Amino acid sequence: MEQIIETVHEGETEALGQTVGRLLFPGAIILLDGDLGAGKTVFARGVGRGLDVLAPITSPTFTLLNAHQGRVPFYHFDLYRLEHEEELFELGIEECLDGDGVSLVEWASKFPSYFTWPALTVTIRSRGDTTRQLELYAESKHYVQILQALIMGR
Ligand SMILES: Nc1ncnc2c1ncn2[C@@H]1O[C@H](COP(=O)(O)OP(=O)(O)OP(=O)(O)O)[C@@H](O)[C@H]1O
Ligand SMILES: [Mg+2]
Repeated sequence: MEQIIETVHEGETEALGQTVGRLLFPGAIILLDGDLGAGKTVFARGVGRGLDVLAPITSPTFTLLNAHQGRVPFYHFDLYRLEHEEELFELGIEECLDGDGVSLVEWASKFPSYFTWPALTVTIRSRGDTTRQLELYAESKHYVQILQALIMGR
């Protein structure tokens, strides 16, 4: 199932992330892609808010992983600076993906063969100054249900 949603400013992208965050279940995975500056971290901040994370949510560009506590743990990855798939193991990403927190991975498409877990895939495309197109894609049941709930709530 695929859903395309357009936002016209940053706050709308964050709000959409927040709505998704509210719908997520423990163990959920979001694979997030889009060019530099597309709005991935803005969306991730919204997801964190939707998970009741109170701490500031900033880009994990240099840390690669920022872990937060909300109603469940929130693991926010940014793989932009990662070069080799083996480095994923050192990051401990597998424990996060298999755990009961929510994992969100910016630049997951750098390692397509690694991310075989069921997930909600979000791709953000710039459409002019502050317009963004977000493509949300789900195949497995629980994520399809999230997308359905998202549409119903809009
Ligand atoms: N509709 C919009 N949605 C999200 N961000 C927007 C929108 N319009 C403008 N922006 C701006 O685009 C930028 C998005 O930055 P952000 O750090 O979220 O991008 P990113 O995709 O995470 O980049 P990176 O690949 O460097 O991690 C911000 O400066 C934000 O203000
Ligand atoms: Mg980012």
